[in-house]
Amino acid sequence: MFLTKEEEAMLDGEYGVAKATAMKLLVTIGGIFEAKRLVKVKSAQISGVSYKNIGDAGLGFLQKLQDLKAKVTVPTTLNPAGMDLLRWREIGFDEDFAKKQLLVADTFSSMGIAPTYTCTPYLAGNCPAKGEHIAWAESSAIVYANSVIGALTNREGGPTSLACAIIGKTPLFGLHTKNGREPSHAIRLQFHIDKPIEYSALGYTIGKINGCKIPFIEGRLDPSIDELKALSASLAASGEIPMFHMQDVTPESSEVMKSLSECDHIEIERRDLRETLDELSVKEEFDFVCIGCPHCSLSELQKVAKMLGRNAVNRELWVFTSRYVREIAEKRGYVKRIERSGGKVISDTCMVVSPLEKFGFSGAITHSCKAAHYLPSTCKLKTDIRELKECIRAAISQP
Ligand code: F3S
Repeated sequence: MFLTKEEEAMLDGEYGVAKATAMKLLVTIGGIFEAKRLVKVKSAQISGVSYKNIGDAGLGFLQKLQDLKAKVTVPTTLNPAGMDLLRWREIGFDEDFAKKQLLVADTFSSMGIAPTYTCTPYLAGNCPAKGEHIAWAESSAIVYANSVIGALTNREGGPTSLACAIIGKTPLFGLHTKNGREPSHAIRLQFHIDKPIEYSALGYTIGKINGCKIPFIEGRLDPSIDELKALSASLAASGEIPMFHMQDVTPESSEVMKSLSECDHIEIERRDLRETLDELSVKEEFDFVCIGCPHCSLSELQKVAKMLGRNAVNRELWVFTSRYVREIAEKRGYVKRIERSGGKVISDTCMVVSPLEKFGFSGAITHSCKAAHYLPSTCKLKTDIRELKECIRAAISQP
């Protein structure tokens, strides 16, 4: 991979050990994927923030970078942590876990990274423009940024996104190139999507069919931003899909349509989505309702508040969002309305990356295929998946 004089000097350690370490990682990745050079990025999104996921090894790695005085050089935001960093005690997170998670948070803030703690950075002040190169980790945000916004990012991991943030560049290959964004197959829908949960199920179904390739979704579709957010998350949960195109919806769809004649066409019927939802659902007793995977938008919080009305919840209801969106929702009164009903609006974390298994719940209901995919393995929770309004109805129903 071609390096400028400045990049070579960074690799040789002339700009310090932290930059040399980051550059070495980027050069190795660039070499593996035959990148021609590095390209400047406008922002980075870092994953590997929850202590539950990274453990002491990850914390040690971050502390080493902190000791080396590593600093990010582009606007950088963070994935969810393992707990609500402001209200962890009141929610009941374990003291020992909290101590470690706070140390992780400390390392990131010492590097100059914004304490956003969300998987929806595009709803929390880090929204790139179409055509901008970025270096994002977090599979759902990667799909959303590439597909819905038209920004350009590969599927970065925790260490590589951090290296990109420190250098301000990423190797130029894959999704950063025109060829790397072309669809490999077309998905034709044999029905009209009319329920929000079907977008989540559609993504999960496509991910199962063609794990890491780029689909072009054909049909007359008119998804909302929240539905595109749900679709992006589930595509990356059952597969490793980095982006999708959707006819007349996503910004590059008309440009790539001409390549469709050479692609395989796969038909999906409504019963395929039903099968996906059944596969992800274990119909058992539940005592926990969790909303917000990916993190709730303002309009989703508004919907939850409205659906709850003046009813009290009879089961634990946790609604996850970013601290950025929570703050606006507080001003609009949505948080108060949800909490008056007995629900909790939790920020900085989510149902999958927090140590939920320690709270003693036996079964969960959610509206997200991604959450339903991960909850049984990461939190040992049997999970049922339902429409948002049915989740809220379940929360207020008598046990
Ligand atoms: Fe976000 Fe956690 Fe779901 S990171 S996409 S809420 S698993």
